[in-house]
Amino acid sequence: MTKDAINIRRIDHVRFIVGNARQSAYFYRNAFGFDVVAYAGLETKIKHEAGYVLRQGEITFVLMSPLRSEHPDYERLTKHGDGVIDIALEVENVETAYAEATKRGATGLSPPTLLEDEHGVYEYAAIKTYGDTQHSFVNRDRYRGVFSPGFKPLDPGRYSASTARPAGLLTIDHIVGNVEEGRMNDWVKFYQNVLGFTQLVSFDDKDISTEYSALMSKVVQGGRGRVKFPINEPAKARRRSQIEEYIDFYGGPGVQHIAMTTNSIVKTVRALRHNDVSFLRVPASYYDLLPERIGPIHEDMNELAELGILVDKDDEGYMLQIFTKPVQDRPTLFFEIIERQGSRSFGKGNFKALFEAIEREQDRRGTL
Ligand code: FE2
Repeated sequence: MTKDAINIRRIDHVRFIVGNARQSAYFYRNAFGFDVVAYAGLETKIKHEAGYVLRQGEITFVLMSPLRSEHPDYERLTKHGDGVIDIALEVENVETAYAEATKRGATGLSPPTLLEDEHGVYEYAAIKTYGDTQHSFVNRDRYRGVFSPGFKPLDPGRYSASTARPAGLLTIDHIVGNVEEGRMNDWVKFYQNVLGFTQLVSFDDKDISTEYSALMSKVVQGGRGRVKFPINEPAKARRRSQIEEYIDFYGGPGVQHIAMTTNSIVKTVRALRHNDVSFLRVPASYYDLLPERIGPIHEDMNELAELGILVDKDDEGYMLQIFTKPVQDRPTLFFEIIERQGSRSFGKGNFKALFEAIEREQDRRGTL
């Protein structure tokens, strides 16, 4: 991959805007096994919003709630409901990244800004991406605090004993955006031309269609392969595509799902189920055909079937994946758990079985 002026290192954190950050923190802690490591709010002299920083492995989530209706993102919360507001990217140099991205056509939201406290200097800027979603550029090379100035560290054990079983989530594998029909290629070009990403793979409606639903997807990657963003758009089908359903309920394009890796998907899914996370189920018949489709794998097929874990394979190896149900009342954001055994695929071989499972849920919601 060519060296780009916008030198992206990794996904630094994902920031969510939610109606009640305190209760969402409880959910991510007790259902997904995150530690709550920092807090900002009235007690830390932040008057307009409350924020909780959650961490597990290398994954950092920030949950934010406006405290007053004058908050600049208040309307956004009413319009979209809980969801991802910012996929923050760690860069070598915030100033260069922002200058270069805006020069190449990105809409700037915050110019490069320095925040300082006794732990050092934290630098950030932000640009717009699809819908009301943004990318912050952050650099914490000169910052030693737990997250950023304004946040007070919390002892993760202090929040009374969690009943959660540790989930063993390690990193963010990819984050998927849903965009409007006909806009996928524009956003692929945005990531290529503005952020220096390359296109990895694409799927069209022949790969990803069922009797009712269809979508198209292209995957772009940056940060020397460490940042992967599939972009979906709905395709014409007999009934309403799950992407259209998302866009309807979210009120526009946005983040559809975040895939998080584990070294042992069987252990992770057992823990998450114990913690009361709900997953999509594929029909039992999926597992009848699996040995033939996949060949020998390390995992016990019966255990995979019991837990509803899906398997896909390409020339480089195989991968295991499972999807949660939406994590809020609106059928918008959900999570994927993924274990890669060599394969760099996104589960193309599972799309059909999976979408039929999603459609059964859509049918129950009366939105198919
Ligand atoms: Fe995915």
